[in-house]
Amino acid sequence: MQDKIALGSDHGGFELKEIIKKFLEGKGIPYEDYGCYSLESVDYPDIAFTVAEAVAAGKHPFGILVCGTGIGMSIAANKVKGIRAALAGDCYSARMAREHNNSNILVLGGRVVGQELALEIVNAYLNAEFTAGRHQGRINKICQREGC
Ligand code: RB5
Repeated sequence: MQDKIALGSDHGGFELKEIIKKFLEGKGIPYEDYGCYSLESVDYPDIAFTVAEAVAAGKHPFGILVCGTGIGMSIAANKVKGIRAALAGDCYSARMAREHNNSNILVLGGRVVGQELALEIVNAYLNAEFTAGRHQGRINKICQREGC
């Protein structure tokens, strides 16, 4: 597995994705950008599936997806087996998404959260770790349901 974080957005999340890229660069965290690459309109499921499949295949430890609300990206990414995409609008939820849910994709709403808060959320997510314990059995139930 590479250390690179997989990034993706549609046009509604493009600007925030570019800000997240600069933030990661400042922290020396490598990433791979799966698009989109401009404000031109694209379909969020195309990007969500590409990023989610790369994460599910073990190519990246985590992904970050951004669309306008974060809802479309969440719905689409969670269709991919093995993906636990978490839409977070606050730092507590972002941390819990890792600690309790072992989430592997963070989703943000580029038209919902401010840029400063979004970066705090990214930081909280990337610095948290799955605590396993009683939460592992719950994840196992999700995996069994998926047929992982
Ligand atoms: C695009 O206009 C918008 O629908 C998309 O970014 C997202 O919010 C969908 O959930």
